Amino acid sequence: MRTSQFTQAVVVLATASQSFAQTFSKCDPTKKTGCANNPALPASLDSDFGAATIPPNWIKIESQGSITKENGASSFIVGKQNDSPTADTTGYALFGSFSVEMKAAPGVGIVSSIVLESDNLDEVDWELIGGNNTHIQTNYFGKGDTSTYDRAVWHPIADPQANFHTYTVTWTQDKILWIIDDVVVRSLAYKDAKGGSRFPQTPMRLRLGSWAGGDPTNGQGTIEWAGGKTDFSKAPFAMVVRRVSITNYSPGKEYQWTDQSGSFDSIKVV
Ligand SMILES: *[C@@H]1O[C@H](CO)[C@@H](O)[C@H](O)[C@H]1NC(C)=O
Repeated sequence: MRTSQFTQAVVVLATASQSFAQTFSKCDPTKKTGCANNPALPASLDSDFGAATIPPNWIKIESQGSITKENGASSFIVGKQNDSPTADTTGYALFGSFSVEMKAAPGVGIVSSIVLESDNLDEVDWELIGGNNTHIQTNYFGKGDTSTYDRAVWHPIADPQANFHTYTVTWTQDKILWIIDDVVVRSLAYKDAKGGSRFPQTPMRLRLGSWAGGDPTNGQGTIEWAGGKTDFSKAPFAMVVRRVSITNYSPGKEYQWTDQSGSFDSIKVV
């Protein structure tokens, strides 16, 4: 099972991809009726990946590749072709702050991903490419709109494979900030995402994972995006997560989508 659709950043580029990770969404409430409400994350969640590989309020997604505990952190290990160790939060937040303290996996074509995604495919990303130890990519999608791929931005960063950095997204209905170690590297205002229509604004879950975008069996576009073909003889490759802190700005029991607009004012906090 391959994971070239871990993130929408590569969906269109991937030609023959499988889809377990295509989306977090089993039911898109803007396309179907009867979707279950989204369970809410706590108002505040501090997850120590040194204490448990899968802390409370997280779940390991069915995928190959192991997550192991070591030195006060958890290693998400791509040990061979088709490994893609992945963990999701079990609940959703509607606006919030999400901080991930981690080191990126090395290895050409190996991608370390931090992805927020909603059930109608609003998405906010950090992507670290193993063959590039000087820059990190940020991206976002609104309502699963992949008609253009012009939103990715690269940012300089100091040795993310050797150093723990804290990658934070703060997300309100007015703007999204991407922050590395307390320095804002990118800001997106609501109105600048196609007048708000492509601004992420529905309850999102957080996914962490490492995967081989450079798997030689992936589409050429995916391999290029990931920085080249992965040499699995150099495995294992480990992304190392120390802790994740989440503040959910709309705490409650769950979120109800009251219509099919996908706009924030259609979401009811129960
Ligand atoms: C890393 O990414 C930056 C931004 O895209 C690029 O300028 C640089 O050449 C890349 N480095 C490598 C080793 O690919």
